This record gives sequence, structure tokens and C-alpha cells, in this order.
Amino acid sequence: MNHTLLVTSSPRRADSLSTRFAAEIAEGIQARNGGPLTVRDLAANPPPHITPAYIEGRITSPEDRTPEQAAAVKVAQEFVDELKAADVIVLGSGMINFGLPSQLKAWFDHVTWPGVTFSYGGAGPQGLLTGKKVYLVTAAGGVFSEGAWAPFDFQNNYLLHLLGFIGLTDVEVIRVEGTVLGPDVANAAIANTETAIKALLAKAA
Ligand SMILES: Cc1cc2nc3c(=O)[nH]c(=O)nc-3n(C[C@H](O)[C@H](O)[C@H](O)COP(=O)(O)O)c2cc1C
Repeated sequence: MNHTLLVTSSPRRADSLSTRFAAEIAEGIQARNGGPLTVRDLAANPPPHITPAYIEGRITSPEDRTPEQAAAVKVAQEFVDELKAADVIVLGSGMINFGLPSQLKAWFDHVTWPGVTFSYGGAGPQGLLTGKKVYLVTAAGGVFSEGAWAPFDFQNNYLLHLLGFIGLTDVEVIRVEGTVLGPDVANAAIANTETAIKALLAKAA
């Protein structure tokens, strides 16, 4: 089955370019491949920060969890179930203070789960969410793909590392850069992204 999961996280609501373009990709893939489209809007419904109940609950067998632990683990289980069900994942992130929105960080804190989405073996850590395609749409006010600010891109590098750590290694990145560098730069970034998405949807499997 072709199951698409759209995860968006920018707190800028309708102004968000990562949300807009991630939705465009997810809807385009779903329209072409068929199957369900699950939408997880982390800005509208932010995951909680992880708590002692969550950390203790996930190493406690289900029948021994306190109600608080069970409720905390249920949040993570729901996110992980969505990831496991998906064949294609489209993830949107807009840069906040050189990194990712804290809503998205909290989601990763739930889905990066030892024994469930990654394991430690003789060969070191191994991601368990394999065989899925990811489209990662990142927006940023400045330009970080090259130039003087490139060393401060703690968004793309971190996201790619986290995704890879849980087994999501087949990632195509769509960057929307320079969104606060004036209308000319922003409009050019938007036009370039539209072109890139058209090409991506024409070839996407
Ligand atoms: C609270 C806040 C912090 C931001 N921090 C940065 C930053 O550190 N570097 C940067 O280049 N842009 C920064 N920006 C600009 C956003 O990255 C830019 O608006 C981007 O388009 C956001 O993604 P979105 O369009 O998906 O919401 C910040 C914006 C906000 C609202």
C-alpha cells in the first residue's frame, strides 16, 4: 500500500513556507500514488516535552506501567505507529534560532526510541525504520547551503542525522532559503522551490 505521512512543525501557521511546500509534495505524491495521507501538524498540536514518566514508562513492561507512564508512552507509540505505517514521509521544518522548531525536537524525542526505532548491536547503532522514502523541506530566513553562514546550519545537518539514526536514510532535501532577505530573494527562493517540486513530483516513486 502507498501510505503518505505529512509531518509539519513550523509555528508560523499559514505564513510557513516549509508547511506549504511539504503539503504540496505530500498531496502531489498521494494524488499520484493513491493510498491514505496522514497529516501530523506538530505546531497545531505540539507534543509534550519528554518527562520522567515517559523515560521510565518506556523501559517498564506495559502491564507494570503507572497510568501516568502509560499515557506518556501512548503519545510516543502513536507517533511511531504513524511512521511505521508510512511508505513515504514528508517532513517540514522552518529554522528557529539556527535549529529546528522545538515542536519537532519534541517529536524526535518521542520517536527516537531504543528497541523500537533503533537498536544497539555489535556493529553499533542500527536504525529500524528502513525502506521508506523521506522528503525533507527546510525553510530558513538566511542562506545556509553555502557561504559564511553554512557552519551555523544546525537544522539540516541535525535533521539528517536524526532521520538516519532511526533508519530513514533515503532522504531528498528541498531547501527554501533566504526567506527574510527581502522580497526579491524570497520570491526567487519560492519560484525555485516550485520548480524543484514539479521536477520531484514528475520523477517521485
Ligand atoms: C522565532 C524565530 C526565530 C528564527 N530564527 C532564525 C535563525 O536563527 N536563522 C534564520 O536564518 N532565520 C530564522 N528565522 C526565520 C525563519 O527561519 C524563516 O521565517 C523561515 O521561513 C521559517 O520557516 P517557515 O517559513 O516554514 O515558517 C526565525 C524566525 C522566527 C519566527
